[in-house]
Amino acid sequence: MGRSGRSRKAGGFGGLGATWSKLTGRGTGSYIALDVGSSSVKLLEVRGPGGSPEIVRAGMAPVPEGALQNNTVQDVVAVSEVIRRLVDGLGVTARQVVTAVPGPSVIIKKARLALRPDEDLETLLMIEAANFIPENIENVSLDYQVLSHEETEAEVLLVAVRKDILSGFTMAIADAGLEPAIVDVDYFALENMYELNYDCGADDVVALINVGSRYSSINIVKGGVSTTTGDVQAGGGEITDTLVSSLGLSYDDAEQAQSGASLGTEMDAKVRLVLERGVAELADAINQSLRFLWRTASDEPLHAVLVTGGGARVPGLLESLSTRLEAPVEMANPFGRVQISRSLDAVALEEMAPSLGVAVGLGTRRPGDA
Ligand SMILES: Nc1ncnc2c1ncn2[C@@H]1O[C@H](COP(=O)(O)OP(=O)(O)OP(=O)(O)O)[C@@H](O)[C@H]1O
Ligand SMILES: [Mg+2]
Repeated sequence: MGRSGRSRKAGGFGGLGATWSKLTGRGTGSYIALDVGSSSVKLLEVRGPGGSPEIVRAGMAPVPEGALQNNTVQDVVAVSEVIRRLVDGLGVTARQVVTAVPGPSVIIKKARLALRPDEDLETLLMIEAANFIPENIENVSLDYQVLSHEETEAEVLLVAVRKDILSGFTMAIADAGLEPAIVDVDYFALENMYELNYDCGADDVVALINVGSRYSSINIVKGGVSTTTGDVQAGGGEITDTLVSSLGLSYDDAEQAQSGASLGTEMDAKVRLVLERGVAELADAINQSLRFLWRTASDEPLHAVLVTGGGARVPGLLESLSTRLEAPVEMANPFGRVQISRSLDAVALEEMAPSLGVAVGLGTRRPGDA
């Protein structure tokens, strides 16, 4: 699964024992990296090996309000229609999809298991998983990553997602005429994006943050390996909502205003006040969760804070975070070491870059990779 860090190991939700080996397309075909959010769907068509993907198509499309709520696809038909139109509009030829479920929808647990000689770890996991996952095991899909495996003991990272949440995403993809090949988690996709584009010193503590519309994911990485993940139930969407409710703006006008467009001198002054307050609240919430996760992970200072997600573009957010965290905060560049096809509009891609962090991370995954 995506937590695998450096080697970008294979996996995905499919139940213990499920393998992706039956899926074809090892390394050289083209794939769709699809980040389905409550505000927009982000799509990349990538080709080449996962360790050095080339982007051949890229695009985003808005998701109707309410089609995705509480980390769940509420309206499969509407979401699949958005995906289908995006795929058709971009002329995407790949069919296999790598996607992610939202971080808040998964349960992640580290499990230490005592092994008897010759005991098979996977069989043991199938028996023991129920002790670690606070959900009826029948209702979840499990994935795992072996962190250490010795003769008498193994440490495993268990990841579980409710089957109904998972199926909302996979059904929307299948209904769009595509094949859901790997389902990752957005935290881990972010980590793969980082690993692809950045060098991390052995002791460096780096915070990766994806600020979405309704929630923000945090992944604390030490020496290039994820130590803790968490999320904040807040994103850029709340600020848009407040612009609508407190200033009586239409949703479209509020979005425009939030991205810096002028609505006239008088309104701009009011917008500025709402934005300042919204940004302060969002930065406070992220700061609080991030400090907790970081302090759980390490005593070292934060070496860097890299931010992605549409919400990262709200004016003033990065500066507010930097002041609170007393650390350098910058927008991540998801394309630093990514090849871009010459047929792509570089300016349009650059414009979308902050929103494509998770999608680039997904673009490093390949069905059947080891
Ligand atoms: N140029 C911009 N300026 C300010 N805010 C922006 C800009 N572009 C997008 N946003 C904000 O970013 C948010 C959308 O970000 P993103 O696309 O990452 O969310 P999402 O993945 O659809 O949602 P989620 O992950 O929460 O389900 C919206 O709240 C939007 O207002
Ligand atoms: Mg998102």
